[in-house]
Amino acid sequence: MTAVDSTQPQPVSGLAAVPPPFSVISGAQVQRVLHGREREITELVEQTYRVHGAGDSVNPPSYFLRFPDRPTSRIIALPASIGGQTRVDGIKWVSSFPTNVPAGIPRASAVLILNDHDTGYPFACLECSIINATRTAASAALAADWLTMGRPRPKRIGFFGVGLIARYIHMFLAGTGWTFDEIGVYDLHADSATGFSGYLGRSGDSGRVTVHETAESLIRSSDVVVFATVAGEPHVTDPSWLEHNPLVLHVSLRDLSPEIVLRSTNIVDDVEHCLKADTSPHLAEQLTGNRDFLAGTLDDVMAGRVSLPTDRPVVFSPFGLGVLDLAVGKYVYDEVLRSGELQVVDDFFHDLRRYG
Ligand SMILES: NC(=O)c1ccc[n+]([C@@H]2O[C@H](COP(=O)([O-])OP(=O)(O)OC[C@H]3O[C@@H](n4cnc5c(N)ncnc54)[C@H](O)[C@@H]3O)[C@@H](O)[C@H]2O)c1
Repeated sequence: MTAVDSTQPQPVSGLAAVPPPFSVISGAQVQRVLHGREREITELVEQTYRVHGAGDSVNPPSYFLRFPDRPTSRIIALPASIGGQTRVDGIKWVSSFPTNVPAGIPRASAVLILNDHDTGYPFACLECSIINATRTAASAALAADWLTMGRPRPKRIGFFGVGLIARYIHMFLAGTGWTFDEIGVYDLHADSATGFSGYLGRSGDSGRVTVHETAESLIRSSDVVVFATVAGEPHVTDPSWLEHNPLVLHVSLRDLSPEIVLRSTNIVDDVEHCLKADTSPHLAEQLTGNRDFLAGTLDDVMAGRVSLPTDRPVVFSPFGLGVLDLAVGKYVYDEVLRSGELQVVDDFFHDLRRYG
């Protein structure tokens, strides 16, 4: 028998004897990995929705930390665990401070912690604002694909609220094969509309760009409407603006009145998650006292359990699931590890001998 050194950490049966190394992955590394991989990441997000839909995940409610002295700001914790091929646990900690934007830095900032499946040890901290935007955009592109399947692809898109998330959604639509004849832009702030139009010009998109003066004009002239505002309560309330039955990617979740929700086919990413925090579907539930207005989840659509009528708008409201951050974060981690550029923090875990 081999003598056991009782001064060293002892293996629990079947588990690793030593904690995994802890590494930090910068935003620059994240962006290098994800750049140009729109199709791959959209497929990864699709697989993750399927794993989540099959129940091989744990995704408890997000925790919202709010501040009485800074009512427009929040920090959200999204703990999660995903099975399938990814098999990792972790948490995203994402801040939203809208006052950052006029001060010249992005609204959202975030880190993602990945925890080892077998030991629970955290093994990586990743810059996560890019992962956050990427998984959100990939989910929107995936939804756009599935929710228009079997119909001619819409050629007129309108972006309602044009910050970072709108830019990533356009990048993911373009990167997964969408082309547009007309691209509408609407924002409360002229600077944002100008900045986004400049991005569209540089992106090489051949669609004709129109900056709209009114919300109504943008919506009426778009077959796909992308909401990426920071509105806290509904500001689009007239159902007649959507009488041409567009696809609405309602990424910012709180733009549409409950009346519009009730006249639409509603698809969400996860029912329990989305009917919280005063999202538009949550307001519709409060108004009616039921959830009959929900057609199902995107996973239901992908599995053929839900079909989509063509005589009403289709509204996709994705609450944003922590499992998506884990899947994209683990993908980034694996790629950085493979490239040999993982920056390990030496001796991060210390004092590992049980009795010193
Ligand atoms: N569902 C998800 O999974 C998910 C994930 C990430 C971000 N988001 C949401 O996406 C939204 C956009 O994020 P961002 O980082 O691009 O924000 P941002 O602050 O960079 O940009 C938001 C833009 O919306 C404009 N805007 C605000 N209210 C408006 C209104 N009523 N009408 C028109 N324009 C308006 C602002 O002027 C700004 O240009 C946020 O609400 C964020 O919470 C959702």
